[in-house]
Amino acid sequence: MLDESKKTFWDWGFFEIDTNGRLIHVSQQLCEHFNLESSQLTHFNQMLKETSLQKIGIAANSEAIVFGVLNNIPCLLKVFLCSQKGFICQVILKYEESYRQELLSLLNNNEQQKRRKVKRKQRPLSHSYTFEQINGTSSAIEQIKELAARVSRGSSTVLLTGESGTGKELFAQAIHDLSPRREGPFIPINCASIPESLFESELFGYEAGAFSGAGKDGKPGKIELAQNGTLFLDEISELPFITQGKFLRVLQEREIERLGGTGRKRVDIRIIAATNRDLMTLVQEGKFRQDLFYRLLVFELKIPPLRDRKEDILLLADQFIDDFNDEFGLNVKEIDPLLKDWMLNYDWPGNVRELKSFIERGMNIVEGGTLTLDDFFLPYANFPIYQKPQMKELLSLEEEVTNAEISAIERALEETNGDKTLAAEKLNIHLASLYRKMSKYNLK
Ligand SMILES: Nc1ncnc2c1ncn2[C@@H]1O[C@H](COP(=O)(O)OP(=O)(O)OP(=O)(O)O)[C@@H](O)[C@H]1O
Ligand SMILES: [Mg+2]
Repeated sequence: MLDESKKTFWDWGFFEIDTNGRLIHVSQQLCEHFNLESSQLTHFNQMLKETSLQKIGIAANSEAIVFGVLNNIPCLLKVFLCSQKGFICQVILKYEESYRQELLSLLNNNEQQKRRKVKRKQRPLSHSYTFEQINGTSSAIEQIKELAARVSRGSSTVLLTGESGTGKELFAQAIHDLSPRREGPFIPINCASIPESLFESELFGYEAGAFSGAGKDGKPGKIELAQNGTLFLDEISELPFITQGKFLRVLQEREIERLGGTGRKRVDIRIIAATNRDLMTLVQEGKFRQDLFYRLLVFELKIPPLRDRKEDILLLADQFIDDFNDEFGLNVKEIDPLLKDWMLNYDWPGNVRELKSFIERGMNIVEGGTLTLDDFFLPYANFPIYQKPQMKELLSLEEEVTNAEISAIERALEETNGDKTLAAEKLNIHLASLYRKMSKYNLK
């Protein structure tokens, strides 16, 4: 059976075959999503068209992505070897019927792509400059980059999932920059940072005199501003429930109406959404609309946490050292082996963002050309990195209260991996209040 760690966030289903192509298992989800009757299926050829067993066999050695058509529905499958010397083929993308042509043209270009892939191995990456900025050579990140590059050609909605600091925003920008919409605007909107009362005017805009305080010329909303480009909805889980319904209508009808307006306007936008929360759980808890969730799940790109791609840690660290060398006018050339060991054994709960701040911290202290454990005040390898200094003497009550508040907020953020909504829940305060306090105390 499929190992939990191999599952993507949204499960379209999978099937398992032996090396001769005989079907061993077809998952319930696959039958449901593709309208298949598992009892009538015995061989791979009956199921998956427009690809071959040989292709699957070759692909499986490197956990590759292959194209196929399952019961007339085009899809992308991730193939990997399973322990019983067979293959697991897991559907990671079910194309909407309207994208069939797009997929078929991709299929026709398959050979060309393979040639490009070989070239890419000789030169690290031949995609646009922005994809090159996404550093990493682990197979996990390479695969996501490849998928993201493919999906960027179309206009399908993309949902980026992954822990905080894994690079979701970077991917959103790279997808836009490689897409046919690259000349159009990329409009980001952070759903966590907009007060609930302003959401609709931010998204939909307003006409003159729509409400007291509305300017005399009115104002276009972010959706309108993204016309012919991409709208990036960051932290989509924070979209208020009522706005979710209104936004869903935009996705379905591709039309908007400004607040206080009378006419509707057609919009041509691509949606990229990102979240570090488990939307499925929020749907089950009644906090996120199920219909919107499915609308967003046309294509999910799950960015793996840094601890699952340890090969990238030192590579990224080198990149950040180069960046900070330029910025700070330093000449650090290497990382001491003990520090390397420490870095490879650390879990990086804040992912690449944490690694970047970590390097920045060391670069502020380093002397000479080698970054060492001493530059982080880490006397020995297992010293907890974020140990807070103990308070020595009693301060004024006001200072003590401030320190206690800061430490509670830091702890809540640590325990929730930086998820502000969860942290606010834990602290039993409003999200807006958490933001205010974080800004007051300059907390990241
Ligand atoms: N693969 C990468 N190569 C280079 N830099 C990266 C990579 N991944 C992330 N970064 C850097 O790490 C930082 C965090 O990335 P980003 O803001 O995209 O994360 P995120 O997934 O959107 O996090 P959050 O969920 O907290 O919003 C940024 O400074 C980004 O440039
Ligand atoms: Mg982000």
